[in-house]
Amino acid sequence: TSSVGFVGWRGMVGSVLMERMQDEGDFASIDPVFFSTSNAGGAAPSFAGSAGGDAGALQDAFDIEALKKLPIIVTAQGGDYTKQVHPQLRAAGWDGLWIDAASTLRMNEDSIIVLDPVNRKVIDEGLASGVKDFVGGNCTVSCMLMGLGGLFRNNLVEWGTSMTYQAASGGGARHMRELLTQFGTLHGEVAAELSDPASAILEIDRKVLAAQRGGVDATQFGVPLAGSLIPWIDADLGNGQSKEEWKAGVETNKILGTAAGSAIEPVIMDGLCVRIGAMRSHSQALTLKLREDLSVAEIEKLLDADNEWARVVPNEKQASMDQLTPVAASGTLEIPVGRIRKLEMGPEYIAAFTVGDQLLWGAAEPLRRMLKIATG
Ligand code: HSE
Repeated sequence: TSSVGFVGWRGMVGSVLMERMQDEGDFASIDPVFFSTSNAGGAAPSFAGSAGGDAGALQDAFDIEALKKLPIIVTAQGGDYTKQVHPQLRAAGWDGLWIDAASTLRMNEDSIIVLDPVNRKVIDEGLASGVKDFVGGNCTVSCMLMGLGGLFRNNLVEWGTSMTYQAASGGGARHMRELLTQFGTLHGEVAAELSDPASAILEIDRKVLAAQRGGVDATQFGVPLAGSLIPWIDADLGNGQSKEEWKAGVETNKILGTAAGSAIEPVIMDGLCVRIGAMRSHSQALTLKLREDLSVAEIEKLLDADNEWARVVPNEKQASMDQLTPVAASGTLEIPVGRIRKLEMGPEYIAAFTVGDQLLWGAAEPLRRMLKIATG
């Protein structure tokens, strides 16, 4: 059994990863060593199914000598940790596998973005050729490629726009709490009027707006999200594009192995990324220009057959309302994809809508599966 060091296992993504690993019995085939950035010496968790009973003490996540002993390190600690520790480890001669949720190393030439149902071949070739850094993709990109793999993997997409509806969890745990607190504050402002059917809706609306503009705690998001939206995610790149929007193009092509310079023509991907008041599932509305005029039935068949998690939702009202929402997708590994229809622009232009739990396929699951691949 392989020893595996875990860093950042207690945060939101890390906790989802630990849950998934327990559900799948993954701890039975590894020897986990748990690290902490704040509580070295404390008791390590003893997750159900892990080989030994006593998991020992937490080790210091900044102790390069301790980390160096591990052939594999999995981190969901975040980008600052990666930025600080990864170069030190490599400089100290460590040549183990680094499996990371943070974006820091994602676009490095010597790293691979892991999403094995989509790019298992890229991963296997990377392992064979000595690649050591394996990084989870941006949540929106990973969820899109899981849902639309049948088109992207068959090189059927010439270009696409993804207009996103991203959940609070993408910002972090505190953002999710803040969203709910905002909803509560707004409700509290008008609870009395709401319980009176005769009260005036415009008066309710006025009070809610006043609270949004003046009273809600928006420490995390910077502006109110409840009852509103935020049409910007991540850094301003200074060219009109947000960093989240830039990721769609570069990461999609890196995952598919179609980045500039490869034998296959790159896919052009761009769009606007928007934060909405959903909890943990990201949605996106796609416009795709296909390379061929495929029938909707053919497209649906390709998408459904591509991997066991993509699930086509018939382009009908009730099915879309029931199955194609953050509420339907959250907590599941299924990636519903629907609203597939030809657009008026021409036979090669299609619309699609997809939703995915950004903590599962968007973050923890590709890392869990990479660890499985790495440990055989
Ligand atoms: N950047 C994403 C978001 C989450 O803010 O929704 C991580 O991929």
